[in-house]
Amino acid sequence: MIRTKVTVFVGSARKKHTYNNSERFLQNLQSFGDLEYEIVQLNDYDLEICIGCKLCLDKGEELCPLKDDRDILIEKMMESDGVIFATPNYSFQVSGMMKVFLDRLGFIFHRPRFFGKTFTSIVAQGVYRGKKIVKYFNFIGSGLGFNVVKGSCITTLEPMTEKGQKKIDKIIDKHSKRFYSKLVKQEYPTPGMFKLMIFRMARSSIKQMLNENFRDYTYYMENGWFDSDYYYPVRLNPLKKMVGKFFDMVFNKIYSRP
Ligand SMILES: Cc1cc2nc3c(=O)[nH]c(=O)nc-3n(C[C@H](O)[C@H](O)[C@H](O)COP(=O)(O)O)c2cc1C
Repeated sequence: MIRTKVTVFVGSARKKHTYNNSERFLQNLQSFGDLEYEIVQLNDYDLEICIGCKLCLDKGEELCPLKDDRDILIEKMMESDGVIFATPNYSFQVSGMMKVFLDRLGFIFHRPRFFGKTFTSIVAQGVYRGKKIVKYFNFIGSGLGFNVVKGSCITTLEPMTEKGQKKIDKIIDKHSKRFYSKLVKQEYPTPGMFKLMIFRMARSSIKQMLNENFRDYTYYMENGWFDSDYYYPVRLNPLKKMVGKFFDMVFNKIYSRP
């Protein structure tokens, strides 16, 4: 039997708050059930800054001129049942290292693939605005195709007091429980109206505006997404079926070439 695997991608060069609290999160998961985990510190990998050529988007990620560890990291995500993005709050956003990593995954927002896998985030902040980063990660996880468990923001103002650390532990412990209960289900949920709309909009725009010379188009074709109800097999109720058809009609019209 293949063991459940969870991988956390840490966007801090230090082994401090982001790393240590992520480790506690993973150790909690291990205490709930039989699983293996890996902590990937992005700092240990070669990740180059995207130069914006858009070859990955238009023609295929294999044509990217940057030769770095992008594919090793994507493989780690593919091999995992659960994925966590953990970052410190730097200047009210994810760390630069985490952003470089997210940009290297840019083409996956066009061609999502992590279906059935569970995602969450941990944001360590000194004082303020980490909750916005958690919201950003919720959106990122969903865009990559994951089932998203709302992330958590921990405040790590130094010097850390015992009381402060206890508060963090409580947040991490609760969060890890929520994550675990979703992880073990490995669901392929039926989309709500918003997600259904996004899927139908994306495929209409790709179908109408691109052709077989574009990787997004061939990816959708190969996956049968031009004809399917959603990214993966789902049973839509009659209302969603009807609304889905309506979305197709509207977006096909909007994106149709003159
Ligand atoms: C360059 C830099 C910018 C930071 N900007 C913010 C910020 O905008 N808001 C905030 O609340 N904390 C900020 N912090 C504090 C860190 O988010 C906080 O110390 C965090 O716990 C660091 O995580 P680490 O221990 O894993 O490195 C900043 C820290 C650094 C080094």
